[in-house]
Amino acid sequence: MDASLFQSRHEALIQQAETALRRLTPPATTRPARLHEAMRHSLEAGGKRLRPVLCLASAAAFDPRSDAAHAATALECVHTYSLIHDDLPCMDDSDLRRGRPSCHKAFDEATALLAGDALQPLAFELLATGYAERPGLAVALVRELAVTAGSTLLVGGQAEDMAGLAAGATEDRLEHILLGKTAAMLSASLAMGALVGGAAGDDVERFRRAGRAAGLAFQLVDDLLDLTADAARLGKPVGADAQNGKFTYAGLHGVEATRQRIKALTEETIGHLRSTKADTAFLAELVRRMAARRS
Ligand code: IPE
Ligand code: IPE
Ligand code: MG
Ligand code: MG
Ligand code: MG
Repeated sequence: MDASLFQSRHEALIQQAETALRRLTPPATTRPARLHEAMRHSLEAGGKRLRPVLCLASAAAFDPRSDAAHAATALECVHTYSLIHDDLPCMDDSDLRRGRPSCHKAFDEATALLAGDALQPLAFELLATGYAERPGLAVALVRELAVTAGSTLLVGGQAEDMAGLAAGATEDRLEHILLGKTAAMLSASLAMGALVGGAAGDDVERFRRAGRAAGLAFQLVDDLLDLTADAARLGKPVGADAQNGKFTYAGLHGVEATRQRIKALTEETIGHLRSTKADTAFLAELVRRMAARRS
């Protein structure tokens, strides 16, 4: 895909994601204001908006007239909650997020905990209300996001991640952590987009697999950036994984093998995308760029 065409499409999708987020989440003045200010502090801090963009682009790949705004916003709500909790002193103890003080630094620990709590049901409210006229779709979306955010995937991955290197450095454990804490949400982003776009069941599954491979690659890049990037560009601290005794792919296999795996996973992703009936040129270019990202 032509670079300038990709760029303008990407910017338009980020705009769409940001507009939906502002429109569909409660204003900071909502009572209790401190809680809603904290939610918006983290939601509006920017970030790449990767999950909503993947969702919107996946829906459009099957049906250009589809409206995936609610699903995209639900994904960003769950993702943002996971970042707020991930930064808490009892987890990664990180003071900087998206170039701003982390939620518990800008507010306080209890408010950050509660802001994260509140973002979770908000996500499911958005799915239930946004697709009320397509109840079958609403149920499928709720199920996809609930399983993804639950104890076997996102929360389970975070739990194993917290246990760190000390709990054993096997390949199987590492894949489980990567799949749960990160890849599952990218997988759900593509699958939920495909569902909104009206994809057939086998194509939804191909998108789910594509998202899983892209998500594994995404976390491997995140771990490399923690080793090599600078905090100002990244908008979050670097060197934190080693300091926290985290079990990472780069730690187990080294930087070069990690780069090779990222490349292989990106090719795998594109293979899954190409095997569907959807128009996946934009998505394929996006996953290529995700693999090469510097922030
Ligand atoms: C950070 O996700 C957490 C990981 C799963 C690596 P992102 O790198 O997508 O964070 P934002 O949304 O751009 O801030
Ligand atoms: C984050 O993994 C995964 C989730 C927040 C679910 P990391 O702990 O590596 O993410 P960063 O580096 O703090 O963004
Ligand atoms: Mg973490
Ligand atoms: Mg962290
Ligand atoms: Mg990280």
